[in-house]
Amino acid sequence: MTHAQFLRQRPRRVRRTEALRGLVRETTLTTQDLIWPIFLRDGEDVVEPIVSMPGVNRLSLDNAVKAAEQARDLGIPALCLFPYTDPALKTQNCEEAWNPANLSNRAIRAIKEAVPEVAVMTDVALDPYNINGHDGIVRDGEIVNDESVAALVKMALEQAKAGADILGPSDMMDGRIAAMRDALEDAGHTHVTIMSYAAKYASGFYGPFRDAVGASGALKGDKKTYQMDPANSDEAMRMIARDLDEGADMVMVKPGMAYLDICRRVQDTFEVPTFAYQVSGEYAMIEAAAQNGWINGEAVMMESLLAFKRAGCNGILTYFAPRAAAILNAA
Ligand code: PBG
Repeated sequence: MTHAQFLRQRPRRVRRTEALRGLVRETTLTTQDLIWPIFLRDGEDVVEPIVSMPGVNRLSLDNAVKAAEQARDLGIPALCLFPYTDPALKTQNCEEAWNPANLSNRAIRAIKEAVPEVAVMTDVALDPYNINGHDGIVRDGEIVNDESVAALVKMALEQAKAGADILGPSDMMDGRIAAMRDALEDAGHTHVTIMSYAAKYASGFYGPFRDAVGASGALKGDKKTYQMDPANSDEAMRMIARDLDEGADMVMVKPGMAYLDICRRVQDTFEVPTFAYQVSGEYAMIEAAAQNGWINGEAVMMESLLAFKRAGCNGILTYFAPRAAAILNAA
């Protein structure tokens, strides 16, 4: 028979039953892979829906603590905090960013006191506090690097003092990781980790997030002079190498789904803890299509998260975290 050779190989044999598929499965997703980003706002007992992110809400501190309890109960190891800042607190110099009693720092303290076993990650960038909506300080229309780094260091130190476990510099200024690491060491915060947004691209996928933190109205222009060009991959390797050299403990690629090639390359090249951020626009696209009945939202959610693991990520920042964890726990 001419096809005998071909029939020795029937890859479908191991796909025949769930037991066999389980045996040959290369990648798994667990609740421990998830970091849950939440949005904060002032007030009490507030759960304020974010229109462009159906199912995601801005939470007052009492409800943020409840989210941390939920994370603990679901087996999610970490929360990441993003404050919606009162427009009246936004200034040219972004002073609210290093106010020890700003919303984000109060939330860190409240969560660490109530649920110390859940790791708290922060965002280190000036955009929620900046009258211009930029991640760095703007002088004469330019996002100035070194003055921004000095401000970011002050911000990072206050977050460390409040009890943050993971600092997440998302600002893409040059030299910020080294400056933060040195300042943390000097101040005795030797155990505080840094997850650098090392390869962060200037992306259209951040749109809904800017609504969520109230930065879209403020933002003038775009972020292309500091965030990376989506066309570049070699440059991402240089950014990762630099941030590791400057003292980052973990690195991140952002956005996620359109940048899985970068994730794979980072893991293969550096073999360091690598994370991806499945950002607001990715979440919104899946939710919108699901709400229209065009895709099976739950299936696509789980498939998208597994894809990050397959691409080499150790974990994923995702707004789906609690829903995905509930499904994983039920399985
Ligand atoms: C700001 C910041 C952004 C996100 C996280 N931190 C937006 C931006 O860079 O404009 C995006 C997260 C998301 O879209 O879900 N420093």
